Amino acid sequence: MENIRENVIIEVKDLSIDFKVERGILRACDHTSFDIYRNETIAIIGESGSGKSTLCSGILNMVNVPGKVSSGSVTYYSEYQHAKVDILKMKPQQETEFRWKEISTVFQAAQNALNPVLKIKEHFYETILTHEPDAKQTDMDEKIKKVLGYVRLDTAVMEYYPHHLSGGMKQRVLIALSLVLDPKVIILDEPTTALDVVTQYYILQLLSNIQKGFKITMVFLTHDIAVVSNIADRIAVMYGGEIVEYGRTEDVLGNPSHPYTKGLVDAIPTLHDDVTQRKAIHGTPPDLTRNFAYCKFKDRCPVYKEGKCEASYEKTRKMYKTGEGRYSRCYTWAEKMAEQVRDI
Ligand SMILES: Nc1ncnc2c1ncn2[C@@H]1O[C@H](COP(=O)(O)OP(=O)(O)O)[C@@H](O)[C@H]1O
Ligand code: SF4
Ligand SMILES: [Mg+2]
Repeated sequence: MENIRENVIIEVKDLSIDFKVERGILRACDHTSFDIYRNETIAIIGESGSGKSTLCSGILNMVNVPGKVSSGSVTYYSEYQHAKVDILKMKPQQETEFRWKEISTVFQAAQNALNPVLKIKEHFYETILTHEPDAKQTDMDEKIKKVLGYVRLDTAVMEYYPHHLSGGMKQRVLIALSLVLDPKVIILDEPTTALDVVTQYYILQLLSNIQKGFKITMVFLTHDIAVVSNIADRIAVMYGGEIVEYGRTEDVLGNPSHPYTKGLVDAIPTLHDDVTQRKAIHGTPPDLTRNFAYCKFKDRCPVYKEGKCEASYEKTRKMYKTGEGRYSRCYTWAEKMAEQVRDI
């Protein structure tokens, strides 16, 4: 039996993904390491361009030209096979079997990718038949009705074409589709972006119920920290292609251990919001084609501006423990937190 790590279902280790662009090499995912635990909901948050979708494509071994994995590994620990799968080295046949059945995805803005000339049920048939070519029509219909039920859609939608559905309904169809082969892990890339607030809330509730009801592992990618607070067990924060902080949701939101996370938390609108007091993070994301000489967050960091950190790039090359199960890339903040613990 091979090295089973009970709690970990996916282990991302030192993953780097580069894009060849006119200006040079753009490193969208920079030596990223983290674990995803079985049956948890983990949210990966970060502003647009921070590398969330690229990381997702790496986890699925779906990095396309001009992108290239330049370092690292992604390991999947299968519960039933009692073996580990090196995702980045899978053969094409193994990949077809793996995708949807073990890890499935709802890609960013995938509503637009539904085929306009296919009925909704035909999208499901395609997916099922790719994996089970001998599946019977009646069995498939039963299965489709079941997963549509999970997302509270009437079975009548099976006969509809995509243009008959609202944005929120299309997104629910895609979530149902991702569940049709009973995957162990589902990755959702910005599943509520571009939906109105009420629909967002409804979909988050559905996802939360599905995760709890089916003991599925859910990876939730979003730029909107406010939407994850009620759904995620853990949060990983991305900035400039790196995870800069991770830990349990209540710890990360309640007591951030990186100035970028603090900035995100301070910008969350609240019920009694005074808009004049809400502080957006000033500045722009770093140019990822640069060779960095300083901490990537330096130009936007209030701690650096106050002269309390020299922003050493070298020191941000690793993560520092800032509490139980939580880590930060900000060495200055980590030192401050360690001092507070020593003072208690
Ligand atoms: N196909 C591509 N070609 C060139 N650069 C890309 C490509 N896809 C993503 N990038 C770059 O990689 C970085 C991360 O992008 P992305 O992973 O889409 O971030 P996010 O999902 O967090 O918005 C950005 O700087 C983006 O411009
Ligand atoms: S290492 Fe320094 S510059 Fe970078 S985020 Fe921390 S305090 Fe700011
Ligand atoms: Mg994205």
